[in-house]
Amino acid sequence: MQATLIKDLFASLHEGTLAEGDIKVEGWVKTNRDSGKIGFLSLNDGTSFLNLQAVYGGDNPLYEEMKKARTGAAVSLTGKLVVTPNAPQPFELKVTGFELIGDVADDYPLQKKRHSFEFLREIAHLRPRTNTFNALYRVRSVLAYAIHSFFFERGFVYVHTPEITTNDAEGAGQSFEVVTRSKNPYTDFYGVPASLTVSGQLHVEPFALAYRNVYTFGPTFRAERSNTPRHASEFWMIEPEMAFCDLSGDMAIIEALVKHCIAYVEEHCPDEMDFFDKFVAKGLKEKLHKVLHSEFKVMTYSEAIVILEKAVKEGRHFDYSKIEWGMDLQSEHERYLTEVVVGGPVFLIDYPKEIKAFYMKENPDGKTVAACDLLVPEEGEIVGGSQREDIYEVLKAKMEKAGNIEGLSWYLDLRRYGGCPHSGFGLGFDRFLSYITGVGNIRDTEPYPRNYGNLKY
Ligand code: 4AD
Ligand code: MG
Repeated sequence: MQATLIKDLFASLHEGTLAEGDIKVEGWVKTNRDSGKIGFLSLNDGTSFLNLQAVYGGDNPLYEEMKKARTGAAVSLTGKLVVTPNAPQPFELKVTGFELIGDVADDYPLQKKRHSFEFLREIAHLRPRTNTFNALYRVRSVLAYAIHSFFFERGFVYVHTPEITTNDAEGAGQSFEVVTRSKNPYTDFYGVPASLTVSGQLHVEPFALAYRNVYTFGPTFRAERSNTPRHASEFWMIEPEMAFCDLSGDMAIIEALVKHCIAYVEEHCPDEMDFFDKFVAKGLKEKLHKVLHSEFKVMTYSEAIVILEKAVKEGRHFDYSKIEWGMDLQSEHERYLTEVVVGGPVFLIDYPKEIKAFYMKENPDGKTVAACDLLVPEEGEIVGGSQREDIYEVLKAKMEKAGNIEGLSWYLDLRRYGGCPHSGFGLGFDRFLSYITGVGNIRDTEPYPRNYGNLKY
């Protein structure tokens, strides 16, 4: 008999087509208890966040064997599916057949009690079996699909940009070197210094000038020695690029993307989102739903500085309290703006050019660039974007100053060969997942996190 998937049972229940009858299921024991006369085994088969309750009676010849099946064991059950309108669960399996497929050793670390996130990080190979992480990585998968669906529905072309590169796009000097054993970059594999990409942007821009609307979505690497819940040295980023698009067009796409993804996850992961709302971040669902029906606020960097200065004067404590125009905002400042001042997502725009990357378009004031960061409560910055400098001479001068013109002459070429205004952004996927699920540490939202000083698994 072919195994029935538990997700299909719940789906037919919702569609009103659930039929009673004989089935087989395969999965892992979540819990198993027996009273001597009757036993209850809760089975998860990985296809659904929800478990199937299996009931076995004392008259079952397999009773003694079955009651010994422990949490974590892989089992196969056959029996009759019956609906149970008066019980907490909508249906259950009356077991007739039982097979232990893979027993579980005595030292299995996942027991019925609740485990801390810190403990579970040490067993990254087992944590997808817990409720929290099972829900989290399913939402991660659905969220990735939501992103692709957003762009495909709008005719964007998906571009695969390289992981090994010769440039440090953001110019922040935080790249990992790629070397073989010889370790001399000039005599090594490529004959030139190579590094892992910090951003696919520079490689995706040429495609925008061929297809109009494109995006890349892949892993990026940064050797930032920041030991925070929001920094990983390997993280996934979505980087769209749109030709004939200015900063306000850029922000419109960002806002539509965030809303599309929230709505998609709401629709496709209701059980997981209920779980997060109840056990991880109370009020999460309402908070996200509100975002769907709100308009994102826009604030200039200069306005933000005035607000922060005022806050400090009125006694607000920041670890970094010397607020002045030209400073790089710290995450505590960003969170104050989005959580206290706005109470929701906010775009911060027009940053001083000195603190932003060389490729951003200079504003007419000569001091700021057409950049936008999207800040959200609890997370701070999840998106960094900008209109790109499309004037050849201006970009050339900036690249000369940044000292990257030699390796990036092809990038500058784009301004000579049919250049046009274009804009794009980078959405940090792992931070976005934190925002959507309320699981606030990137060491959890990434299945196998890599951070400064941490490379387990
Ligand atoms: O603001 P960033 O540095 O922007 C860029 O890389 C641009 N090239 C994007 C573009 O315009 N195409 O990074 C974009 C986002 C951040 O807002 C953040 O969400 C995420 O990437 N990010 C990180 N996420 C996890 N760990 C880190 N160390 C991150 N650094 C950036
Ligand atoms: Mg940024």
